Amino acid sequence: MEKILWDESFSVGVRDLDNQHKQILIIVNTLIEMNDAKVNSEIISDTLTKMTQYSLEHFTKEEQYMLDYGYPEYLSHRKQHLEFKKKTSDFCMETMAHKMAVPVEIFVYLRSWWRNHILKEDMKYKKFFNERGLK
Ligand SMILES: [Fe+2]
Repeated sequence: MEKILWDESFSVGVRDLDNQHKQILIIVNTLIEMNDAKVNSEIISDTLTKMTQYSLEHFTKEEQYMLDYGYPEYLSHRKQHLEFKKKTSDFCMETMAHKMAVPVEIFVYLRSWWRNHILKEDMKYKKFFNERGLK
């Protein structure tokens, strides 16, 4: 699977959220590289755990901005974050349980998360935050 390279079109217009998205992308790309190299799944589950922890930190910040600025889609957005947390922690458990094989669906899921959540749902707050001076 090909890595995802950061592009200005990925910017959600808020600097610290962009920086966190970049960090998440680095971890996703590390996972993609690992999959190609067929490293052992213990390292992959550690990396997934790292990504899950970092994502929690990121979601907390994103949700806090939404609350602070009264973002109207806060609840539905938060619901997507909760689904992601559940899904990635399930993946961590699965990967640990099946040390010989890493489910390809992890990469498929992360890629679709990037496309559907970050590039679509997160983009929806770009104008909202920018208009209120959060950049
Ligand atoms: Fe989000």
